[in-house]
Amino acid sequence: MSETAKLILEGKEYEFPVFTGSENEKAIDISKLRDQTGYVTLDTGYKNTGATTSKLTYLDGEEGILRHGGYSIEDLTNHASYMEVCYMLFNGELPNKEQLAAFETKISRHTLVHEDMKKIFDAYPTNSHPMGQLIAMVSSLSSFYPASLNPNRNDEAKRLTMFRMLAKMPTIVGMVYKKSIGHPIIYPNNNLDYVTNYLYMTFGNVTENFEVDPVIVEAMNKLLILHADHEQNCSTSTVRIVGSSQANLYAAISAGIAALWGPLHGGANQQVIEMLENIKADGGDTEKWINKAKDKNDPFRLMGFGHRVYKNFDPRALLIKDACDKVLNKLGINDPVLEIAKKLEETALKDPYFIERKLFPNVDFYSGIIYRAMGFPVEMFTPLFALGRLPGWIAQWKEMIDENQPIGRPRQIYTGYPLRDWKPIEKR
Ligand code: CMC
Repeated sequence: MSETAKLILEGKEYEFPVFTGSENEKAIDISKLRDQTGYVTLDTGYKNTGATTSKLTYLDGEEGILRHGGYSIEDLTNHASYMEVCYMLFNGELPNKEQLAAFETKISRHTLVHEDMKKIFDAYPTNSHPMGQLIAMVSSLSSFYPASLNPNRNDEAKRLTMFRMLAKMPTIVGMVYKKSIGHPIIYPNNNLDYVTNYLYMTFGNVTENFEVDPVIVEAMNKLLILHADHEQNCSTSTVRIVGSSQANLYAAISAGIAALWGPLHGGANQQVIEMLENIKADGGDTEKWINKAKDKNDPFRLMGFGHRVYKNFDPRALLIKDACDKVLNKLGINDPVLEIAKKLEETALKDPYFIERKLFPNVDFYSGIIYRAMGFPVEMFTPLFALGRLPGWIAQWKEMIDENQPIGRPRQIYTGYPLRDWKPIEKR
């Protein structure tokens, strides 16, 4: 007999089905709750709400497990290329050699963006934040590809939009960077693979030949994979909820980028480096800053610490910390903030405040140190997160559209005034 959950309300008993996921995760299916009882659930911040089922990513926050398509994040970062992971997120299976080559070729055919996009860039102040530009540029793609406006047109059109989005993002992120330093943009070179091409458009220069350091390519490949998908986080949920109204993919991704920008989400990677720099400038007293983070009268939070779902460790943070040591060693860089970060982590992990609240370093804690060693300015850290998260956003959007999911529309419990008599302005 299938499992059910019983609920007693106002003396009446109701039964609801229990849904079990492929990793034995349990959920009470309350889709008929309001119809049957007149009640809704109240769950501010969706801490206990499963908004969807999904085959893409499995995450166990208690055990620190992250898998895409059943493959562990450790295996994927050690063995896969970013394009293999993108393919798998789009298709559900890892590609064989021919499939991967065909996929890479297909993507490489769409790397250029319309020349008119440059005019939009021209209008931005040189030092405006890259994330604001990225949101606008991605949403502008819908104007250049009006056929994408109907996401349900047909499968072929849908895939073309997905490919265009994946292919053009490195070009746009490269353009955003070039704009920020006042340099001419670098056009994509489709003889290069996806990751190398992005690095070329960022660090290449029209005045000289460019050869990208393989250490940097390898690190970038790992970093992008580590960010590729993370089930129903704030930005992915945003992509799904915007897409659920059948807005086009570019609009949905643009909204996801906006959600990512916040310092509690992807914006944390920029904040971490700024925090570490502040601590360094303040004399490097990590105890003092830990105490600030614990002080409830002080708004300061230890950036790059804590996670809504991981309550033991963030497996991505472990992999990034390891990569960080390797990259800095290989590049011969000695960044004093790495020492501060390690000291901060060590102090926090022994402190009852952090232990009791299960607060550990998250993916953003060490990623900025690697990005900086690679030569990225801090403002580019969150666009890099967006670049990495892109295949996850696209795949989640596709899954939702393919499953014909209903529009996302949460309810609320009204706590304002009951009906009041109208008061003329002179009596208020
Ligand atoms: N520093 C100090 N205290 C913290 C921190 C922190 N970084 N994070 C959580 N807490 C405390 C919080 O004050 C609360 O304490 P109390 O129970 O006494 O009120 C308790 O821990 C639980 O925190 P919460 O805010 O209710 O937890 P949440 O699940 O709503 O928030 C979070 C998760 C990631 C937003 C939060 O931990 C945070 O603000 N971290 C810093 C920002 C950050 O690094 N964000 C990146 C997240 S990982 C990458 C990504 O997904 O983008």
